[in-house]
Amino acid sequence: MVAEVLAALRPKPDGQYVDGTVGWGGHAAAILAASSPSGWLFGCDRDGAAIRAARARLKDYEDRCELRQGNFADLAEWVGPGSCDGVLLDLGVSSPQLDQAARGFSFQQAGPLDMRMDTRQPLTAADLVNAASEKELVKILWELGEEKGARRLAAAIVKERVRRPLETTAQLADLIERLAPRRGQRAHPATRVFRALRMAVNDELGSLRRGLVAALAILKPAGRLAVITFHSAEDRLVKEFGRNHERAYTYAGAVDVPELRQPCAPQVKWVKRKAIQPDAAEVASNPRSRSAQLRVMEKF
Ligand SMILES: C[S@@+](CC[C@H](N)C(=O)[O-])C[C@H]1O[C@@H](n2cnc3c(N)ncnc32)[C@H](O)[C@@H]1O
Repeated sequence: MVAEVLAALRPKPDGQYVDGTVGWGGHAAAILAASSPSGWLFGCDRDGAAIRAARARLKDYEDRCELRQGNFADLAEWVGPGSCDGVLLDLGVSSPQLDQAARGFSFQQAGPLDMRMDTRQPLTAADLVNAASEKELVKILWELGEEKGARRLAAAIVKERVRRPLETTAQLADLIERLAPRRGQRAHPATRVFRALRMAVNDELGSLRRGLVAALAILKPAGRLAVITFHSAEDRLVKEFGRNHERAYTYAGAVDVPELRQPCAPQVKWVKRKAIQPDAAEVASNPRSRSAQLRVMEKF
């Protein structure tokens, strides 16, 4: 969604931009080109391989960009408060990550059950699958995978791992396929399980919660935040964040009781109230983009 991101962030010369999920550098290159000759970009990614690839791809812009390996949840530690004109978060995993069998992200590639975006982190998917309690596995599969058979699958994983630890993507994918055989053209039954485990291993929703707060802190007034999500739980979080910060009041506690509202200045407004979706041509050329949703807000 490069054109849509550029339309949202409106890069300009002298503008300062942050790409919190720089990946292999596609969006970052477009932002740097559009903010020529003097726009500046800070890019981060949890994945060291992505940072190395982005460094090579952005070689022509090396004097006006800075890249570092890290979680966008920590953006406010590296970028000054109120200093940016635009922040992009393009969530999830990239095609190069999915395509590398050794990273263990894909059930279609035989590899270790790893799934760490940052390989310096100790916790892997194998650790979770082999050590988490059955209750914890049900919660992961249900809340992050929206998997209707969460209980049955978690019980089967626990039974299987007693017999032999689950160490590879193929072992887990085979187990799921045996329990929930593929019918017709439906997505592979392992899709939701793998996505749920990946989101748990990388604490993706926790990072997003902290990342949204950090992004708002580093934006200038009238700066824009663009977030591309691929999952309804992520999209819900972004929508809630926007809703909570566009209000002209706060409330103490978990429930919004009108009598207990405290007036405050709204912090953001939506650039468009509805999410922007990729056009048909993009979905045809990149089927993985079909569930993408772009939301854009502007800081007051
Ligand atoms: C969809 S890809 C981004 C692709 C990128 N926009 C491009 O044009 O190449 C998502 C990237 O975000 C990274 N990522 C996901 N969550 C992250 C986080 N919390 N902090 C930093 N990077 C993250 C992943 O490692 C992956 O490289």
